[in-house]
Amino acid sequence: MSLCKNYATSIMLVMLTASSITVKAQTKPVPQLGKNTIQEVIAAMTLQEKCSLVVGSGKAPRPKMKAGVSSGYVAPPPMIGKTERKVPGAAGNTTAIPRLGIPSLVLSDGPAGVRIDPHRKGDSTHTYFATAFPVGTLLASTWDPSVVEGVGRAFGNEVKEYGIDILLAPGVNIHRNPLNGRNFEYYSEDPLVAGKMAAALINGVQSNGVGTSIKHFDANNQETNRNSVNAIISQRALRELYLKNFRIAITESQPWTVMSSYNKLNGTYTAERHDLITTVLRDEWKFKGFVMTDWGGGYSAVAEERAGNDLIMPGRPDQIEDLMSAVQHDSLSMKVLDENVAHILNIILKSPSFKKYAYSDKPDLKAHAMVSRKAATEGMILLKNEDHALPISKNIKSIAAFGNASYFTIAGGTGSGDVNKAYVISVAKGLANAGYTLDANLETSYTTFINDTTQKLRAIARAAHHWPGPVPELIAADETINQKADNSDMALITIGRNAGEGSDRNLETNYTLTPNEQQQIKKIADSFHAKGKKVVIVLNIGGVIDMNGWKDNADAILLAWQPGEEAGNAIADILTGKVDPSGKLATTFPVKYEDVPSAKNFPGLPAGNPDHVVYREGIYVGYRYYDTYKVKPMYEFGLSYTNFSINNLKISSPVFSGLLTATVTVKNTGKVAGKEVVQVYISAPTKTIDKPAQELKAFGKTRLLQPGESQILTFKINAADLASFHTDASSWITDAGNYVLKAGASSRDIRQTADFKVSKTIVVEKDHNVLKPEVAIEDEYKGN
Ligand code: BGC
Repeated sequence: MSLCKNYATSIMLVMLTASSITVKAQTKPVPQLGKNTIQEVIAAMTLQEKCSLVVGSGKAPRPKMKAGVSSGYVAPPPMIGKTERKVPGAAGNTTAIPRLGIPSLVLSDGPAGVRIDPHRKGDSTHTYFATAFPVGTLLASTWDPSVVEGVGRAFGNEVKEYGIDILLAPGVNIHRNPLNGRNFEYYSEDPLVAGKMAAALINGVQSNGVGTSIKHFDANNQETNRNSVNAIISQRALRELYLKNFRIAITESQPWTVMSSYNKLNGTYTAERHDLITTVLRDEWKFKGFVMTDWGGGYSAVAEERAGNDLIMPGRPDQIEDLMSAVQHDSLSMKVLDENVAHILNIILKSPSFKKYAYSDKPDLKAHAMVSRKAATEGMILLKNEDHALPISKNIKSIAAFGNASYFTIAGGTGSGDVNKAYVISVAKGLANAGYTLDANLETSYTTFINDTTQKLRAIARAAHHWPGPVPELIAADETINQKADNSDMALITIGRNAGEGSDRNLETNYTLTPNEQQQIKKIADSFHAKGKKVVIVLNIGGVIDMNGWKDNADAILLAWQPGEEAGNAIADILTGKVDPSGKLATTFPVKYEDVPSAKNFPGLPAGNPDHVVYREGIYVGYRYYDTYKVKPMYEFGLSYTNFSINNLKISSPVFSGLLTATVTVKNTGKVAGKEVVQVYISAPTKTIDKPAQELKAFGKTRLLQPGESQILTFKINAADLASFHTDASSWITDAGNYVLKAGASSRDIRQTADFKVSKTIVVEKDHNVLKPEVAIEDEYKGN
């Protein structure tokens, strides 16, 4: 009986316990992202879950690495998993934790358009092409953030409609040297232009409710040995140039994420620098999103997490193990790991994947192509136009188009900056669309030659396991050229150049036109000029090139950059005068490469295989150098088919009191409608530290002005704009003294000036004394 009773009691106890577990389970469900606070979700995460979230979902094995040296190696295929099937061809994914309602984010390149696979296995009915927009260097040449923001809006719509959460763009690194293979992805030699353009692109993209990743933070200004090279840069050059670009963009647009760079900065991988990622980015600039590594960047996952580099991409299982072990052995604190997890969860909460956005896979590519074409026309630059060679005269009906790039026009550079677009309108096609008769024999010769040579180069490359080299220029025979000069009304020569991540451009063969190219230009020019016909050269390039020895042969030169998929149509819009060229250089063309202030210190030492590069030129990059040291550049402007006056400069007060407002009146004094850019430079007193002769502090572009029409442009300058970084005090200081504000069409075409005074020194901001070079920098131009 008692046994029975006992038995019954035990049964009751078991039942009670079971039901209380059930009750417990019902009242205390597992926290869910979005329903619970982030802190509650983190408290419910296991160590393994936390470490998995901060490491991308890549599955590659640990690569062989030299101690302390990043390999940057990403084993193919970088992504295997659920989300890879979601958006094939995307660059990476974060790890989903379904138990806690945490979805995987999809991350995709790149700066000129969404980069995903255009075709999918088992899906023959639909394609997934994306719009190729103009490259960054062209967008900066518009000098019009509203155009760039418009590109961003269309671009971001494609990001969202293709099921992507974060776009791995824009790239905002400074054009320190023209040979950088990735300059096309970046904007300018000037941090204000770069920062404003990046902010505009980010604001446009993110207005769609998707994120961006501004990159590559920081000082990734070359591709040679990009995974290991140590960039040695003074604190002043960092603050005034290489951080300022990021700072402007980040504070004016709040990108969801920042991507750290591959290189070392003053001795340490950027991804492992707490002072860069936490002190400067988060503490000083108040960045609120998360930081991810570049793909395979940095060396130690633990050091990266400790620095505040929240996400490691594309991620490897061994990195998760390393992090878990580091927490277990106290070399990574749980507090830091939790903070990094929180940074990522905050962004996941805003993402389309979290909101289960029903993406269409059908963005309006036709509408976006028009955005791309219009933006392209706004950033093309007319470098030369003698005797009204352009716009093409009404008498011209037939055109002989020379140059491989007339038929295979380059929309954008290679690597992750490339886009899988449905088409590229060639220069020849664009002109044909505009109603010209293009020489059909030339078209056949070029297309046959390029197709055949491409096949051959590919076969050779396959056998040798390397990338195929560029197709050499077809050299037309003298009699062909003479015959075309007889039969066509005008010659057009397109010079093409391409480059991309992984290597810098070759000085002899990429930066400089080959002897064959130069001879060809001369022959065409001699032959056409002998018959009184014009020669127009179109530069279809991603970065600055050498212009010597051949530019005089052209009647007109249009710098079309790499203008996206609508290339030929946009180029025709300018050549025909349908659109007035209004682009201006945002990066200087030197007379010769040796004039570039970093020429002697690029890509670093030891020569051939550099492990470090010293930025001896300090702040003297681009026009800061050319204007101060009176080195004449080849080009620094952009012409138009009309003329503008810039007059009536007025400043709010001759004594600075916190904010200076300047206005100028721009008038179209020519015969066709056009837009003009006004650039505002300031010369500051140099009693305390050396300063450039003048620095760009503001810029603006008019609307389309009809002949005779005027517009007033307004610029605002505050104390921070006038300040220089004084390394001794680790502070931004606006010195007392006399300043000159200069307004003009370029740094060398100043039309109006106004003097003003700062009565008392203003310490605008004190920064942390961080990022110090470990070695003394031998100053080349007092610029450090
Ligand atoms: C590039 C990044 C890119 C990433 C993912 C890296 O090689 O440097 O700019 O976003 O790959 O494709």
